[in-house]
Amino acid sequence: MTAFNVDLRGINEVYRPYLTDEHRYQLYFGGSSSGKSCFLATRAVLDALSGRNVLVVRKVQRTLHASCWNEVLKAVRRLKAAGLFRVSRSDMSLTVARTGAQILFAGLDDVEKIKSITPQAGALTDIWIEEATECSRDDFKQLDKRLRGPSPFKKRVTLSFNPTWKDHWIFREFFGGWAEAGQAPDPAPGVRVTPGRSYADRRVSILRTTYRDNRFLTEDDRQALEEENSGYYHTVYTLGQWGMRGDAVFTDWRSADLKVEPPPEGLRVFYGLDFGFGHDPCAAVRCLLDKRNRRIYVTGTFCEKGLVVWQLAERLKAFAGRAKVTCDSADPRCIAELRSQGVLAVAARKGPDSLVHGIQWLQGYRIIVDRGCADLIRELSAYCWKEGSPPQPRPGDDHLIDAMRYALESEQRPRKATLRKKSEVIGR
Ligand SMILES: Nc1ncnc2c1ncn2[C@@H]1O[C@H](COP(=O)(O)OP(=O)(O)O)[C@@H](O)[C@H]1O
Ligand SMILES: [Mg+2]
Repeated sequence: MTAFNVDLRGINEVYRPYLTDEHRYQLYFGGSSSGKSCFLATRAVLDALSGRNVLVVRKVQRTLHASCWNEVLKAVRRLKAAGLFRVSRSDMSLTVARTGAQILFAGLDDVEKIKSITPQAGALTDIWIEEATECSRDDFKQLDKRLRGPSPFKKRVTLSFNPTWKDHWIFREFFGGWAEAGQAPDPAPGVRVTPGRSYADRRVSILRTTYRDNRFLTEDDRQALEEENSGYYHTVYTLGQWGMRGDAVFTDWRSADLKVEPPPEGLRVFYGLDFGFGHDPCAAVRCLLDKRNRRIYVTGTFCEKGLVVWQLAERLKAFAGRAKVTCDSADPRCIAELRSQGVLAVAARKGPDSLVHGIQWLQGYRIIVDRGCADLIRELSAYCWKEGSPPQPRPGDDHLIDAMRYALESEQRPRKATLRKKSEVIGR
């Protein structure tokens, strides 16, 4: 591709085959710090040295300087190619002195520049859209059209980004084959695929990387990424997978070791219980409510099938002591029996929309679940909305989530405005 001598050791292995990839559409996505931007900046420099003209874009012009512009300058230095380029900071361009090939930069919000941008010599051959999820499909289509004009090079549009939600236009436009390949055992003719890792058909090539593919990270960087364990953020930023909006009911939750990261002192404790016996378990939760910081800490759960009432009573006394336990109201006899055995069981007052209302209320809080509560972690990860309207969650594995709604039910009802006694008002 170029007479320029490249030391491949400076490029993460996973990206090396893509130095010369000629697909019209190329997508580099995945977790943060996986080396995408560094690689594409390096490739842009090598491409310019081989005669290509590269336009680097982001949605917002002012974000270019601190990101792509600096990455490209760093790549020039890493490649020891500074002597080969003329750098103009004022119009943000790098020009190969010998050939006039250029790397140009523009923000999509700088409409005039985007419209008029043309390289000094030859046609634009490459557009690299960094953080492409910021751009609309229309932005992309307009840019795609900019790759006109005769050129000895294959024209390419490269998108780099962290995935967002599966309803994003990029997923819909480019990931049909990728998603299919994850399910079908044999790829279609002309398709090369490593499920979850890479995909290529005639039109598009896709590479998914994570921080594990980046051997230039420090141990501290690695640890920080591994510790990021909230549901959505873990999926998208650490694992680099597309999230599922309109699907997962709870997205703002994470697991934590609450012995190491204890909740603040003095929070109120709530207990909730969902009844079950044969097919469904009895499920109980203990949670702490931090209203001020809008957090719920789940510090303990139990989830057991086949308990008869006296056994359940013993388990609850050990779990909750003499504290109030708010229970599924569908079974008043069970509640009465638990009370007769010394458990302060009370029925949740389920209103007509209590399920969705309770969920919406919980969604207003960040839920932090102790690592030991594996059953609840599983439930939260899998709890999804059903298709259609009105919105209803898919029933099934939701016993502890129900128990959590019951536990905090007293907090969900708008409090009736109570008239304070005159003496109280005066006394304040
Ligand atoms: N080829 C490389 N040479 C040196 N450092 C690299 C290289 N690739 C990645 N890095 C380091 O890893 C960090 C994260 O890489 P980056 O390309 O910004 O990841 P991403 O764009 O996937 O989030 C960079 O800031 C840089 O320190
Ligand atoms: Mg990046």
